[in-house]
Amino acid sequence: MITNVGILGTGKAIPDYILTNAELEERMDTTDEWITSRTGIKERRIAPPDVAASDLGAIAAKQALDKAGASPEEIDLIIVATITGDMPFPSTACIIQDKIGAINASAFDLSAGCSGFVYGLDVGQNMVRGGYQRVLVIGVDLLSRVTDYEDRSTCVLFGDGAGAAVLGPVAEGYGIISTDIGADGSGAKFLQLPVGGSRNPITPSILANREHYLRMSGNEVFKFAVRVMEDSTERVLEKARIPSKDIAWFIPHQANVRIIRSAAVKLKIPDENLYINVDRYGNTSAASIPIALDEIVEEKGISDGDNILVVGFGAGLTWGSAIIRWGGVMK
Ligand code: COA
Repeated sequence: MITNVGILGTGKAIPDYILTNAELEERMDTTDEWITSRTGIKERRIAPPDVAASDLGAIAAKQALDKAGASPEEIDLIIVATITGDMPFPSTACIIQDKIGAINASAFDLSAGCSGFVYGLDVGQNMVRGGYQRVLVIGVDLLSRVTDYEDRSTCVLFGDGAGAAVLGPVAEGYGIISTDIGADGSGAKFLQLPVGGSRNPITPSILANREHYLRMSGNEVFKFAVRVMEDSTERVLEKARIPSKDIAWFIPHQANVRIIRSAAVKLKIPDENLYINVDRYGNTSAASIPIALDEIVEEKGISDGDNILVVGFGAGLTWGSAIIRWGGVMK
């Protein structure tokens, strides 16, 4: 018998400090008008220097565990989707395991850029199908740590945050109904942090030339995003045999409001079923979808049986989408 796997609880962690477009205007040659019209972003959150990915991830994880009514000891596996972990190794998942006391969990990080949380959902659901009872999936990124605040074409886009979900078996007819994850590595060059790994270890000259920051070809990523959001969501709807009019909440990766709206128009998703918070947080990478999901749970309300469609795209280049039928939690 195939186990149905659903989301039992969600959580999030958002830093307090708000970096507004007005502050960016003062710091560099940009305008609120340019940022708003090109991206829809008004402000983003930036973590203080002593806060790392594991700190935000652990807060989000504890909230998700609380809401799922699960104890840390019950967690079998922790998957942390991140590209800005605390350090290259050990994994941020291991650091979070210790922070939250999930002593029985195995733990690893997953690198799929902004698609990471959806990748994590897909891997996590299969681990539950394989016999695990509780899998914690965390999406966390502090892109402010790898962003060049002298490069106006990238620094206006990104923010910091974390979101989490606890996965476990749910009643028949509920849970993750279909997923679609994929990658096109030929686009790796369009969004990357090219130094700091085994190809280009950090050297004094890299630092002096300010090469230790993320690089992005905005137009290439934009075109990719519009295409894969449409293709992947069509596939995942088809697999689930659900028409888009039956989607209660469409949660696209929050990168750019123009990309979000183009996907919503193609899918014929009306405004009241579309969730947007990119104006408040910018692009928080792997955290964007779980933060949005937790906000909807907390502030908008999701009813049992609601179909949620999530879709992400990001470095790799990667994409991932999933349809989750909410509820079915077994007492
Ligand atoms: N303020 C003012 N002007 C800016 C600016 C800023 N912050 N950043 C770039 N510009 C300028 C550019 O220098 C360029 O000037 P030029 O025409 O004189 O050369 C002009 O604005 C237009 O730049 P362009 O790159 O064509 O703008 P765009 O409409 O494509 O928007 C992005 C740029 C980055 C907002 C858009 O390409 C995008 O969102 N791409 C996807 C990025 C993304 O989602 N990345 C994360 C993936 S997970």
